[in-house]
Amino acid sequence: MSDTHFGFQTVDETQKAQRVRGVFDSVASKYDVMNDLMSMGLHRAWKAYTVAVADLREGQRVLDIAGGTGDLARAFARRVGSTGTVVHTDINEAMLRQGRDRLLDEGQVLPTLICDGEKLPFATGSFDLVSVAFGLRNMTHKDVALAEMNRVLKPGGRLLVLEFSKIAPPLAKAYDWYSFKVLPRIGQWVAGDADSYRYLAESIRMHPAQEDLKTLMKEGGFGHVDYHNMTGGVVALHVGIKC
Ligand SMILES: C[S@@+](CC[C@H](N)C(=O)[O-])C[C@H]1O[C@@H](n2cnc3c(N)ncnc32)[C@H](O)[C@@H]1O
Repeated sequence: MSDTHFGFQTVDETQKAQRVRGVFDSVASKYDVMNDLMSMGLHRAWKAYTVAVADLREGQRVLDIAGGTGDLARAFARRVGSTGTVVHTDINEAMLRQGRDRLLDEGQVLPTLICDGEKLPFATGSFDLVSVAFGLRNMTHKDVALAEMNRVLKPGGRLLVLEFSKIAPPLAKAYDWYSFKVLPRIGQWVAGDADSYRYLAESIRMHPAQEDLKTLMKEGGFGHVDYHNMTGGVVALHVGIKC
């Protein structure tokens, strides 16, 4: 058995997915309001930029992994139109239900599937675009997940990874104060759960920085990888092409 990290804690690999599930089971019903509060609405701009970079066309096939409450899946579905497909997936049923309910409220019915990003139940070469927003950080074997994402893409297809990243040094002190002092308090106040938001802050610090994730994606089979920093590196959008 090997160890991995769950935030700053070292845990057995077999426990990580269970601990992550506990976090998202706990926050699912307040996830969207917390996203707006914590990021002061910025997550909407980060996702809008991701949708612009995706540059989808009518009829294309998209897989959204760790799709949660469905922000990206919803925006992608509008772009691929009725001849395209967006598959909305997540490992967590509570998060996926929130997303599916929101989509239904807006009159959108998408194929929705519980699945693990590390074991994708799709044939090789099925999608034009795969996306994973704020999800890769939570996966136990990021290398396995990236190789799976590569496998299910068509040749020339693209993977978009939107994730928290390494902030520019001049902003680091203020960001640490906000992450470790303010975030858990907002979490406690709104969602009744400080620990899950402490995990969020810690897991961001443990996630590979921009260049390290680029290397990991290349090792996962992406011939070309580039990234775009946003908000001073608070988040980065990595784009990998299956060559
Ligand atoms: C921070 S939420 C992001 C949700 C959504 N993509 C967004 O940007 O708002 C992270 C999501 O990753 C999911 N997740 C964690 N581990 C996963 C795995 N191994 N496979 C698929 N999804 C996973 C969680 O269940 C959770 O819904």
